[in-house]
Amino acid sequence: MESKIKELVDEVGGIAIANADDAEQFRLKYLSKKGILSVLFEEFKTLAPEQRKVVGKQLNELKQLAEKKFNEAKESSEQNGSAGKSSIDPSLPGEPVELGSRHPISIVRTQITEIFTKIGFTVSEGPEIEDNWHNFGALNFPEDHPARDMQDTFFVESGTDEKWLLRTHTSSVQVRVMKNSKPPIRTISPGRVYRNETISARAHCQFHQVEGLYVDEGVSFADLKQTLYYFVHEMFGEDIKIRFRPSFFPFTEPSAEMDISCIICGGKGCPVCKQSGWVEILGCGMVHPNVLENCGIDSKKYTGYAFGMGIERISMLKFQIKDLRLFFENDMRFLSQFKSVL
Ligand code: DAH
Repeated sequence: MESKIKELVDEVGGIAIANADDAEQFRLKYLSKKGILSVLFEEFKTLAPEQRKVVGKQLNELKQLAEKKFNEAKESSEQNGSAGKSSIDPSLPGEPVELGSRHPISIVRTQITEIFTKIGFTVSEGPEIEDNWHNFGALNFPEDHPARDMQDTFFVESGTDEKWLLRTHTSSVQVRVMKNSKPPIRTISPGRVYRNETISARAHCQFHQVEGLYVDEGVSFADLKQTLYYFVHEMFGEDIKIRFRPSFFPFTEPSAEMDISCIICGGKGCPVCKQSGWVEILGCGMVHPNVLENCGIDSKKYTGYAFGMGIERISMLKFQIKDLRLFFENDMRFLSQFKSVL
């Protein structure tokens, strides 16, 4: 028993009591009614009288040591102000909570939407899996148009005769809106589109577009230009210059592409604008009468304009991003740079 008590003196002496919970554990183990010391005192009663003198002294010393240790720990945890519960200091500042940030595509899509809704455009959406008619046929694409080709379009196996595909542009939403509502129609359609492109710094098999459509009596090309001037100045600032170049799209006549003066070099010439001082940002035109008729709108009574722009392109110019792939890689080093924007 003597050696057992010696061991316990060492054990108790070496215990570190850090907080109120530790102190309570300590009390239960050594000092409570069923604790080690009670057991030892019971054992002590069974000793021969000549042994009791030495062992009794040892045992009392162990008890004093344990009680001292416990009382000191209790006192210090009470002084810490935690009322004997724990030594956590609630007045310390908390761990900062890391907030995420919005994706640049989402930031720019919201900006575009706000600019157009301010002048009365609604927002409409359509499905990403489309049928051939909404994506091509209704938009006046001839049967043999190369865009309908397997090389440009992802077709979806449908198990029916109907050709289904991943929409190649948001112009398909124009068709749905015109079929389902009556002029005046003034709407934009943001969304994801897909093309069978080799992925590079300038192209991807998925990207985002915003389509715009305005159909009413007497809508003219001048209305289109004015709306786009307003958009560019809101998006990029008043100093940006704008030019239109004649172009071709099956669903508009006449058609144009719109360039803005390069916001990187201010029009002087740089690698982004390929030294021309201009960058193309969208396609547009007057809705082709065939498209209006395909969608059940009287082309003698109504005219309309449409435009379509790539959100990636606008974001790249706005934030000076050189590689399109960054938008889809979800690299935190890229994404966290947009924390301060919006
Ligand atoms: N859908 C065209 C594309 O994806 C963009 C476009 C051009 C949309 C002219 C239009 C438009 O509405 O009028 O390249």
